[in-house]
Amino acid sequence: MRVALDRADRALVAVLDDQVVGFVRTMSDGAFAVYIADILVLPEVQRQGIGTSLLRAVLDHYPMGQFHHQVLIAERDAEGFYRRMGMSAVGTVGLTAFIRTRNTT
Ligand SMILES: CC(C)(COP(=O)(O)OP(=O)(O)OC[C@H]1O[C@@H](n2cnc3c(N)ncnc32)[C@H](O)[C@@H]1OP(=O)(O)O)[C@@H](O)C(=O)NCCC(=O)NCCS
Repeated sequence: MRVALDRADRALVAVLDDQVVGFVRTMSDGAFAVYIADILVLPEVQRQGIGTSLLRAVLDHYPMGQFHHQVLIAERDAEGFYRRMGMSAVGTVGLTAFIRTRNTT
């Protein structure tokens, strides 16, 4: 985790009453693409706008007027959250996505 944080392009936390309650990090080439990773909000404070603020901060940091795409991998349960933020499932824009993970062949 330390290496992942050190090498992230941006790593943001949300702080409430001196406690870290939310987190997001990004990887980017600074010109064309950004990958948004690990957006997490503490369960006790979900649905209070913290996830929206974290995601808005990173989406705005890589403006679509300059970047070609902003991309992330989402849990199916969280699809509504990303749609609300103006993001589209890959299949709806005539594209697909591929992944290789340690847990699949
Ligand atoms: C997904 C997550 C980051 C959202 O953060 P949050 O602070 O709870 O989100 P917000 O309060 O800003 O939510 C804004 C809106 O997004 C939608 N939304 C939020 N979480 C959602 C979810 N899990 N599923 C569907 N819609 C969701 C709702 O419409 C919500 O508005 P509402 O509360 O008025 O209905 C947070 O629920 C989380 O950390 N979940 C567990 C980890 C996770 O799934 N991370 C994403 C991995 S892809």
